[in-house]
Formats: sequence, structure tokens, C-alpha cells
Amino acid sequence: MASTVTLSLPSSAIQTSFLPRFNKKRSFNFVSNKLVSCRASNGNQNNQHSSSPNNRFDRRDVLLGLGSVYGASNLVSDPFALAAPIAAPDLDLCQKATVTSKTAPTIKVACCPPKSAKIIDFKPPKFSKMRYRPAAQLVDQEYLDKFTKAVELMKALPEDDPRSFMQQADVHCAYCNGGYDQVGFTDLELQIHFSWLFFPFHRLYLYFWERILGKLIDDPDFAIPFWNWDTPAGYALPAIYNDPKSTLYDEKRNANHLPPVLIDLDYAGVDEEMSKRDLIKSNLSLMYRQVVTNKTPSLFLGAAYRAGDAPAPGMGSIENVPHTPVHRWVGDPRQTYNEDMGNFYSAARDPVFFAHHANVDRMWPIWKSLPGKKRRDFTTTDWLDASFLFYDENANLVRAKVRDCLDTRPLGYEYQKVDLPWLKTKPAPRRPRKGKGQAKAAETSKTTVISNTFPIVLDKLVRIEVPRPKKSRTQLEKEDEEEVLVLQNIQLDRNVPVKFDVYINEEDGETPTEPADSEFAGSFTNLPRTQHSGGKKLDTKLTLPISELLEDLDAEGDDSIVVTLVPKLGKGQVSIGNIKIEYIRE
Ligand code: C2O
Repeated sequence: MASTVTLSLPSSAIQTSFLPRFNKKRSFNFVSNKLVSCRASNGNQNNQHSSSPNNRFDRRDVLLGLGSVYGASNLVSDPFALAAPIAAPDLDLCQKATVTSKTAPTIKVACCPPKSAKIIDFKPPKFSKMRYRPAAQLVDQEYLDKFTKAVELMKALPEDDPRSFMQQADVHCAYCNGGYDQVGFTDLELQIHFSWLFFPFHRLYLYFWERILGKLIDDPDFAIPFWNWDTPAGYALPAIYNDPKSTLYDEKRNANHLPPVLIDLDYAGVDEEMSKRDLIKSNLSLMYRQVVTNKTPSLFLGAAYRAGDAPAPGMGSIENVPHTPVHRWVGDPRQTYNEDMGNFYSAARDPVFFAHHANVDRMWPIWKSLPGKKRRDFTTTDWLDASFLFYDENANLVRAKVRDCLDTRPLGYEYQKVDLPWLKTKPAPRRPRKGKGQAKAAETSKTTVISNTFPIVLDKLVRIEVPRPKKSRTQLEKEDEEEVLVLQNIQLDRNVPVKFDVYINEEDGETPTEPADSEFAGSFTNLPRTQHSGGKKLDTKLTLPISELLEDLDAEGDDSIVVTLVPKLGKGQVSIGNIKIEYIRE
């Protein structure tokens, strides 16, 4: 028989330098030592130790349980770390990618580029006229004729021409699917997703793709279109990609998601029944969260990834959502590995990949243009001098650095200006703010499992209380340091599709928490990738900004938050090593 123990911790008992501070307003019912259900104690606010013998615990228990969610409150970078930018790969050492799946045989994919005796360093292009990348739903026939012609010519290039359509698609495969080791680090994969390399790599990749197309139709002003999935008029897969006779067509797409079906940016493998109104609200709220709420370079662009680092330190907000859900939504579930868009090795074989990534790319300058002094690029040379290799429009092998692509204008292009309706769609709290003098109305269902042991295997909804090292910070402090929730050592097989959602101070209600609610802090997503010889486990982290959420939820003064993790895709296939709150400057 499980005894139920209620703990009400006097704050004086745990105010030491190494112990977490608990929310004084909460009590815990220890149903067993592994599973804990949690209920707010509306009436029990006197913080007295009960005299019941069942109530005894020692510090060690606290440390082993909730204490393990606690860690250093500030990230101090290691002064002894030898930092260096990631170097462009050695094409001579490129190896085949291995595509695996839980349910299908492993296949080897050759996606290495042709070799070249000479590498030239990137120089900013000379141009007389700015190129404007148009929204795909707005282009006219003349533009479309040019674009389809250019892609036709690209597809007609000899197979071994590095500018040919398949060779270009394979660039993505090699950089994403373990084609390269990091120079000087055998068996340490070079990976351009899951880190701060995501935006610059894809920007340069699209740049060269566009230049090759322009050259093929002899129009140096040609600019590729973007899939405007951040506004309702652009939610459907752009019609220009859906004509079976067009060179932009790809039959390996989800047949249920062809125009006029509207995209769900929160897509996790299941088509939700939703009114158009709710869908728009959800999509716009997600965009607000990912672009507006994520205010620092590491939150938006991704985590630092330097020479010698293990791949996949952590995705930026946009890479996570909606970038990955859009891939998944387009990929064809009838194909073994969800080709084309649903797997990184094949994604760029679908021409719509480039329109999708153009919109991802478009978010970078938009993000930088919003108010906030931290909306800027990283300034460290470890990022600025990271480099990649691409073949240009003349089939020359070019080494380009991150610093070459910080701004689109020196590259000769900008995006067509269209509405940004999501700028005004800030999520709102599910329940009204608590009134003055009113007890916190938190009421968590008794049946909810709360895990207090790490690692947590996400096979069901998990709730956990996480202490906050600081509270009631001033506006200035908040501008200086963003409070973030960090899910550390998220481990999964690379080849499993995953999505789980993270809610803050969410309570069981009649309706599920949605992106339009303030409580919805973000999601973690994984698109299956092939494996690298170095291993198929992914070990990464998710960092979510919560300063703004806590203000909106009126929880800024609380000692802790309740974090709810909801597996949506890949149940039981993900484990989380630790959860804590940190304060970050960048
Ligand atoms: Cu390199 Cu959308 O993936």
C-alpha cells in the first residue's frame, strides 16, 4: 500500500546555496518514491512541518528527487575551452550516408559532391540591381515561366555537373546526413542542423542555388520565390508547385496536404480537426512565439557549435518550429522514409524545399528588425568564421563563411514586403489572471503523474516542478538576462520522428493547451535523418524563453514553475536528462 506523504517545506530549511527553493504555496503528495501527484494547496500556506512521522525526509531525498532539476543558475562559459570555428569539410573524405528507419531496411545513399582541385574564397557579388524574392502565391505567369525553365535546365545538366538538380539536392544530404566528419576530428560528425549554423548554411545554400538558376536562364536578376507559410494567404502548398506537368512538381508529397489544404504549423503527424479560424489563430500565435518571444541570438539562431563539439547542441526557435513541422507536413507518408521533404537526406529533391527555406531565411532579417537590443547576430569569430563549401554558378568550388552572409543585401537580394499578421497575435493566458489577495488557483489533477527522477522517458504526459533561482526581477534585469527553461540531454534515435510540447503552469482543463495560450512555451521536433558512422543517438537540448510567459501568467513572483511535457509524436522514444532554469545574456 502506498502511503501518501504531504510535504510542506519551510523555506528556511532549504535556503542553502545548493538546494532548490520550493514554491512555498505548493505541497507534494508522494504516492510512491517514483511517481508523485501534485496539487496546489490553496488552504495550506503556513509552511509548517507536519508532525506526522510519514513526513520525514532528509536533504538527500530532496536532492535525489526535485533537487536533481536544480543546477548552476548561470551559464559561465569555460575559460579553458579552446574555441575555434567549424571548418569547411574535406570533400575527399566525404562518405556515403546511411538511411535507417525503425521499420525498414537500412540503405546507403551516395550524396558526395564531385571533387575539385581548387577552392576559391567567396567574394561578395557585383550587381546592378537588387533581386526581390517574391511570395510564391503572388508570382505572375512571366515569372513562373522563367522559374520553371530554369529548373528544367538544371534538371537537364549532366549528372556529374555539380550544378545539376540532383547534385544540388545532394549537397543537403551530405551536410545533414553524416557525409562529412569535422576537419581534424575523425568520427565527429559535421552537422549543419541543430545549432547556430542552421541559418547561415541554408542562406548560402539557397544563394548558390539561385545563382545557378539565374545563370542557366541568363538572367542574373532572377530570384527564387518563398513559401509564405507565416500568413493565411500562403498556408497552402504554393499552387505553382502542384502542377504535375511542371518542373516544380514532386510526386513524393503527402496527398492529403495538397492545395487548397492549409498547413498546420504545429503539425505532429496527425491532421487535427480544426476550424479555419482556429487554425489561423494557432499558426499566427506560433509565429509570434517563435519570432517575437525568442529575443536573443542563441534562442533564435541556435546554440553555439564549435570545432570539436559534438553535433546538435540545440536548435534555434524557427528551426524547431515551424521549420521541421513544414518538412513533415509535405513529406509523403507512403514512402518508406517519408521522402522527399520528410527526411533530410531527400528533402532538397523537392523543389518546394527551396521555397520553404527561403521563408525560413526571410525570418532572420525580420527578427533582427524587431525592437530589442539582443536581436542581433553573434559577434564571436567562432561563428563568423565557420565555413562551408558550395559550387557556384560557374561550377567553381567556393569557400564561404558565416560572416559573408549576415545580411541579404550585400548578396544582392531582399524579400518582397508582405504583411506580418503574427506580429500582433501574442498568445493569451488560458485562465484569467489571479486577482489581488486571491490564493493561487492552481489545481492540478490528482491523476497526473509527476516525475521526479531523471532521466524522464517521455511515454506519457509528465509534469514536474522546477525551482526558479531568481524571481521578481526588475525590467532591467530581465532585459539583461532572459530567463530560460532548459531541457538537457534530450536523447533519441536520429531516425525517429519526434514532437513534444512544453507547457508552463498549465492545468488540466476541458480543452487542451494550444499555441494560442500563453502556457504553451514551445516544442521539440526531430525530422528523421540518416545516421553517421559516429553513432545514431542524438543528444541535444531545448532552450525556451520564459520571462515573457511568466509575466503574462502572473507568475513572475513564484518560487517555481510547473512544467508539463506532452509527447505528440514518437511517444516513449525520447528521454530527458534534466530540466532547469537558467539566465542567459546571448
Ligand atoms: Cu537543412 Cu529544412 O533542412
